[in-house]
Amino acid sequence: MSNQVEVQNVIKSFGSVKAVDGVSLEISEGQFFSLLGPSGCGKTTLLRLIAGFEVPNAGNILIDNKSMDGIAPNFRPTNMVFQNYAIFPHLNVEENVSYGLRKKNLSKNEKSKMINDSLDLVGLSGLNLRSSNALSGGQKQRVALARALILKPKVLLLDEPLSALDKKLREQMQSELRHLQRAVGITFVLVTHDQEEALTMSDKVAVMFDGKVEQIASPRELYEKPSTQRVASFIGAMNFTNGKILNSGNVVKIKSNILGEFELPMNQISGKPTNENIEIGIRPERIKINPVKTNSKDLIDGKIIDISYFGETTYYKLKCGERSETLNVSTQNSFGQMDYKIGELVKFEVDNKSIVGFYS
Ligand SMILES: Nc1ncnc2c1ncn2[C@@H]1O[C@H](COP(=O)(O)OP(=O)(O)OP(=O)(O)O)[C@@H](O)[C@H]1O
Ligand SMILES: [Mg+2]
Repeated sequence: MSNQVEVQNVIKSFGSVKAVDGVSLEISEGQFFSLLGPSGCGKTTLLRLIAGFEVPNAGNILIDNKSMDGIAPNFRPTNMVFQNYAIFPHLNVEENVSYGLRKKNLSKNEKSKMINDSLDLVGLSGLNLRSSNALSGGQKQRVALARALILKPKVLLLDEPLSALDKKLREQMQSELRHLQRAVGITFVLVTHDQEEALTMSDKVAVMFDGKVEQIASPRELYEKPSTQRVASFIGAMNFTNGKILNSGNVVKIKSNILGEFELPMNQISGKPTNENIEIGIRPERIKINPVKTNSKDLIDGKIIDISYFGETTYYKLKCGERSETLNVSTQNSFGQMDYKIGELVKFEVDNKSIVGFYS
C-alpha cells in the first residue's frame, strides 16, 4: 500500500519546549493510525503539523508524495476533528455539518444530498434541524465527525475525539468509528492517551514520549514485543525483575531471583547488551497460580499479599523469590477459577514464551 502521509525528521519548538523532537513516520493509505502517549508528549502538535495549523522548524511533511511546505490547512487534503467537539452552538445540526460547504458552488439539491449522506454515515439521519444545544455529548461528537467527513478528506485527523464521553458511550463510539473508517476507506490519524483505545481501533500505533516516537507497530506487536520498558509499562501492565546474563547466543541464558535459570530467545530481547544485567518483563496474565497440569519443576513458591477484585478479573500481588520481590498476577474469573486469600501460600508458573527481556 502506498504512503499517504510521510513525516520526515520533523521538529517543532515553542520557545524552549521541543514539542515534537525529530519525528519520522509513514502512514499508508486507508490505514487507521494512532498517536499514543502521555499528556504533553506532543501528539496534538504533531497532528496540527500534519493539518497545517503549525509550521515545522525543521523537517518535511508529505501527503500523497507532495510536500506540504507552505500549503495552508484549507488547501491540504486533510480535515480535523477537535477534542472539544468545536461545533457551533448557535447553528443547528445541518448548518453545522454543511459549514465547510458554504463557500462551495453547489446546488441546493447537491448540498442537501451531501448533508444527508454524511448524517447517515454517523447515524444521525433525520436530525437535520435539531438545535445543537439539544444534543447529547455523543451526538455532538457525531455532528463534528459528519462535518469533517462531508468534505471527503483523504486524511481525517482526530484529536482525542472520544475523551469527553463516558466509558460506555466511548466504547460504542470506538467501534462505530472503526466501522465508519472501514466503510469510507479514508486514512484516519487518531490522537489518544488511552492505550486500550489505541489497541482496539488501530492498524498501527506510534507511541510517543517527550516529543519523540519510541515505537511504531501493530497493536499486537506493541503489546507482545514492546521495544523499551517505557512502552511495556505504558501499554498494559508489566512486571519487571532483574536478571543476570550467563551466556549469549541465539538463546540467552539468564539467572533471575524469581525464575531461577532459564533461556530466552534473542528475538524476545530488545536493546543492546552493555553489561551482564537484563530486565525481564512478565505480563500479569501470563502467570498462572496453582496450574493444574504442569511439570512440577517449573513451579515457583509464592505468597498472596494483596487482592483487588474487578468483577471479571482479580489482581493478586504475589511475594516470591530470594529477595521477596512482588509480582502482579491477573486472573480471569471464568468458570471454575479458584479464589485465593491473603496470606495463602501458592505455587505459580510463568509462561516463558511470553517473557520479554530488555538489556539494561
Ligand atoms: N502553542 C503553544 N505554545 C507553547 N507551548 C505549547 C504550545 N502548544 C503545545 N505546547 C507545549 O508542547 C508540548 C506538547 O504539547 P501537545 O499539546 O502537543 O501535547 P499532547 O501530547 O497533545 O498532550 P495532551 O494529551 O495533554 O493533549 C507541551 O509541553 C505543551 O505545553
Ligand atoms: Mg493533545
